[in-house]
Order: sequence, then structure tokens, then C-alpha cells
Amino acid sequence: MPPLPRDPSLLDLYGPDAEAERERAREFLTASSHTGLQLEIGFGRGVFLSELAAAQPQVGFLGFEVRSRNCLELLKRIDRLGLTNVRMVLADVRSVSPWLFPDAVVDAVYMLFPDPWWKKRHHKRRLLTPETLASLRRIMRPGALFSLKTDVPQTAELADQSFAATPGFEQAYPRALDHLPRSHRERRCLKVGLPVLSRCFKAVPTSEGGGGVHSGGPAQREQTAFAGREERRC
Ligand SMILES: C[S@@+](CC[C@H](N)C(=O)[O-])C[C@H]1O[C@@H](n2cnc3c(N)ncnc32)[C@H](O)[C@@H]1O
Repeated sequence: MPPLPRDPSLLDLYGPDAEAERERAREFLTASSHTGLQLEIGFGRGVFLSELAAAQPQVGFLGFEVRSRNCLELLKRIDRLGLTNVRMVLADVRSVSPWLFPDAVVDAVYMLFPDPWWKKRHHKRRLLTPETLASLRRIMRPGALFSLKTDVPQTAELADQSFAATPGFEQAYPRALDHLPRSHRERRCLKVGLPVLSRCFKAVPTSEGGGGVHSGGPAQREQTAFAGREERRC
């Protein structure tokens, strides 16, 4: 796979200009030029993210993906649609979010058809763990929605358990998802008759005052950050 091209939509947080790129990323996260910030974790081919961003040009969208081929695909879509409100990071969201994001800046999180990682030795790659959810809760504003879709009943079950075990979330009606674009995987599921299970969880204030749990101090967070740039099979 050739390296990704330099592109204003790509935040190259680990590249040769990492410091400048991290600054550019932080500016985007807190920019007043858009009316809110929404996050997609594992955007795959970028069908959902690009369509949603085109429909809401006033909102800023940030996508995380661990496969460079998918970033390339999204770059092409951004170019085709002339989008200026989308940025992407090629990295594991778990290693970047603890040090990149300030508290409470995200208005919506989408996790659509996350990899189930069936094998026991791969369970550590699962995203729907209380630890990862607590880390994401920190960056969500109170009232922000975390939307999940899956065709795997065990993933929906894991989500229910993990959200219930994470302070600062309550279950919400997934009706908010009805009018959103469909991701590539969702279109495939509907075509071949697989179930599509939807979940929505709202960020609510916790007794400690609304934030989530910080996972590790700054030094530890920086240390784990470089583990994020690994390729995976979808
Ligand atoms: C089954 S695919 C679904 C893609 C897309 N959301 C869809 O619905 O068509 C899961 C995606 O999540 C990405 N992914 C897996 N773990 C990730 C992580 N820790 N951070 C960011 N993306 C991740 C994979 O590379 C893959 O593209």
C-alpha cells in the first residue's frame, strides 16, 4: 500500500510534522467555524461519514480508522463531494483520544458495525469495553449521543453490558439513527438479509461532575499513542 498523500483532510499525527499536525488537529477540535463536532470510529470506506458531512456542512466531522486503504477511499470521497468539514486520523482511537482531545468537545459518536474480534486472543482489540467507553465519555459533552449499529447480537449484548458498567451513560431510544445515511456494511446487511441492531447511549453527568475517567497520566498516554498506527483486516 503506497503512503497516504499529504492532504488537508488527513491529520498525520505521527508523520514528520507531527507537532504541527497535532496543533492543526486541536484547532479543528475546538474550532468555532463549525457548530459542533461529531466522531466516527472505524469509518471503513467512509460512505456514512462523507454522506453525513455533506448533509451537515456546518458541523465538523472527525473519523478514526486503522486501515490506510480506507483513509484513501475517504479522501477520494471528500474530494469528489468537495467537503471541507471532515478530518481523519489513521490510528487506533484508543491510543489517540486520551491525549488529543480536551474534555467534553464531542457532540456525537458513531460506531457502526465494529469488528467483533471473535478469537479470544483478539478480545483485547474490542472497542466496546468499559475502559474505552470511559475514555470516550470524557471527551463527550453531556447530552451527546453514542450511536452503535451491528449485525452481531453478541456485539449488541457486549455494548449493553459495557455501557451499563460505565458511569456517565444512560440508554436512549435508537430512533435518532433512523434518518442517518447507511454505512457500506449496513447496505450489505440489508441486501443479504442480516439483522441490523441499533443502540443509542446518552452522555449524562456523573456524580463526580460529568467527566469520564482519564486513562493514565500524560506520560503514559503519549507512550501508548504510537501503538495506534497498525494495520488490521476488516
Ligand atoms: C466491520 S468494519 C465497518 C466499517 C464501517 N463502519 C461500515 O459500517 O461499513 C470495522 C472498521 O473499524 C475499523 N477499526 C477497527 N478497530 C479500530 C480502532 N481501534 N480505531 C479505529 N478504527 C478501527 C476497521 O479497520 C474497519 O474499517
